Amino acid sequence: MVGAGTMGNGIAHVFAQAGWDTALVDVAPDALSRALKTIQANIERLVKKGAGSKEQGAETLGRIRTSTSLDAVKDAAFVVEAASEDAQIKLTLFRELDRAAPPGAILASNTSSISITALAAATKRPAQVIGMHFMNPVPVMQLVEVIRGVETAEETTRRTVEIAKALGKTPVEVSDSPGFVSNRVLMPMINEAIFCVMDGVATPEAVDTVMRLGMGHPLGPLALADLIGLDTCLAILEVLHHDLGDDKYRPAPLLRKLVAAGRLGRKSGQGFYGYRD
Ligand SMILES: NC(=O)c1ccc[n+]([C@@H]2O[C@H](COP(=O)([O-])OP(=O)(O)OC[C@H]3O[C@@H](n4cnc5c(N)ncnc54)[C@H](O)[C@@H]3O)[C@@H](O)[C@H]2O)c1
Repeated sequence: MVGAGTMGNGIAHVFAQAGWDTALVDVAPDALSRALKTIQANIERLVKKGAGSKEQGAETLGRIRTSTSLDAVKDAAFVVEAASEDAQIKLTLFRELDRAAPPGAILASNTSSISITALAAATKRPAQVIGMHFMNPVPVMQLVEVIRGVETAEETTRRTVEIAKALGKTPVEVSDSPGFVSNRVLMPMINEAIFCVMDGVATPEAVDTVMRLGMGHPLGPLALADLIGLDTCLAILEVLHHDLGDDKYRPAPLLRKLVAAGRLGRKSGQGFYGYRD
């Protein structure tokens, strides 16, 4: 598991829970210690809810080791990349992972919007590169979007679907296209909600209440944007805007402003709402 942020800790958790020995890698040591703390807290919550025993929780945690070096993937059968949503970071990582992982290993990306075909082309094993897009929070959400790049082999897709099912998830196969299905539909809604706040149509609380009570969404779009991370939302919208070439994906200036101010949502303690306590 490469990248130990919002998504990486959840993905490591579900793999370890399903019995996989899991190496969690990040360039930032503090991201690794935060990830372990989050996984531990999530396991404790599950035990309290009766979804597993204390012993099972300890076994799950015991299967996760952390590292700041990609050497940790040298014996991996399956690698999931969930580093920051930045094409340059991911292209470099896929080049390095191709060298570091054994020849038979599948390299999966949890990217929300970046081309799987382009990531595959950075490696010498494009047939074994695939998108495996988990939803946040990973231990709770059912869906995994499985994205086939142009060169992805049938066997790679079959194996990824099988693994997603073994993790207790429901995989849905889609083809490679900016934002796939999930973010091509979700991000324009979040962006429009931000425009509503920016244009003074309503407060964040009012926008979210309309969408929760009026449309039956469990979380309003602005609370969801805070959960995803406003920097990640902006990065996804940039890809949709650039790659599809349609101004309907133009990121709201208020989103840019909040990201520039370091208000990234839950992970920074402040986004459209405050989370410091
Ligand atoms: N946040 C969400 O709700 C969500 C949902 C689905 C998919 N995703 C995708 O998952 C990926 C990760 O998103 P996130 O929200 O966890 O981001 P995040 O900002 O919380 O974490 C990213 C982590 O990647 C690490 N990182 C950066 N460069 C690295 C490198 N070269 N090697 C190893 N680690 C590196 C950072 O130190 C950080 O800990 C992105 O591609 C994002 O689009 C996010």
